[in-house]
Amino acid sequence: MIVWVSGASSGLGYHTSLQLKKAGMTVISGARSYRDQEGEAENGYRLYLDVKEEASMDRFKEQALSLAGPPDVLCCCAGVLTLGACEDYSLQELRDVMETNFFGQAMMIRRALPLMRKNGGGKIILFSSVNGVLAVPYQGAYTASKHAVEGFAEALRMEVSPFGISVCVVEPGDHRSGSSKYRRHSVTDSSENPYYQDYQKTVAKIDHDEKNGSDPDHLGRVIARNLLKKRLPARLLIASPDQKLAVLLHRLLPKKLFARILTLYYGGRFR
Ligand SMILES: NC(=O)c1ccc[n+]([C@@H]2O[C@H](COP(=O)([O-])OP(=O)(O)OC[C@H]3O[C@@H](n4cnc5c(N)ncnc54)[C@H](OP(=O)(O)O)[C@@H]3O)[C@@H](O)[C@H]2O)c1
Repeated sequence: MIVWVSGASSGLGYHTSLQLKKAGMTVISGARSYRDQEGEAENGYRLYLDVKEEASMDRFKEQALSLAGPPDVLCCCAGVLTLGACEDYSLQELRDVMETNFFGQAMMIRRALPLMRKNGGGKIILFSSVNGVLAVPYQGAYTASKHAVEGFAEALRMEVSPFGISVCVVEPGDHRSGSSKYRRHSVTDSSENPYYQDYQKTVAKIDHDEKNGSDPDHLGRVIARNLLKKRLPARLLIASPDQKLAVLLHRLLPKKLFARILTLYYGGRFR
């Protein structure tokens, strides 16, 4: 089974590519950090890939094709997280998040689909998040991008099913992936900012939850197991019991009550 993984240099993408390779799959791993590290490694064959650059995605596709042939699976893990108040995101910050988290997945899928159709089938995994289902304060841009992924995947699933292509949205809860290195705090991070107090408490809770989050290798193994099935499930919520409960409550409770509970959980105020 030939698998392309984007965003494979760290965090969940790295652990997913590692587990897929351990499961005996032929993995082509892409990330910007691989610019000077292309070649065979423990998590597959590494290639430079920037999902914000059309030329880079084209090159990745051509190189991956000549190395291994058309992909049976595309796994889109590349993502960024910028914390900040909705009011404070600049247009550029919003664009950055949407470009990587949503457009990047859509454009990788666009490149893989003709190859999968020609091959008579395939599997596509989009990386959403629990935030693709419910919002967390100060993750407005990220939440918007993951909701976009969810909607896109739902339409895609119906369109590509006749070609034998199945689409799965992976919704991870907090995982110990060390992604804090990619967080870029916006102007909310200044003590003069009106959101500062609630923001600091929320960020501390987010950090705590992630440091105590689930094992990223477990997530990689769950994905590997599911890839061995004939068809992918529509959705894989890979989260702790309390995060699964939050998803359920979000569906059942009145929106304002849920917002109050979640805001208080993160140490913020809700009036
Ligand atoms: N960790 C969690 O708890 C969690 C929870 C829910 C969802 N997720 C999702 O899981 C995925 C991985 O997240 P993570 O927390 O593990 O993050 P991470 O450790 O920060 O890894 C992000 C990965 O994306 C890559 N990336 C970022 N921008 C890119 C670009 N323009 N082109 C190509 N690759 C790019 C990074 O590689 P380079 O910088 O080398 O390009 C890196 O490999 C994301 O989609 C995230 O939204 C994570």
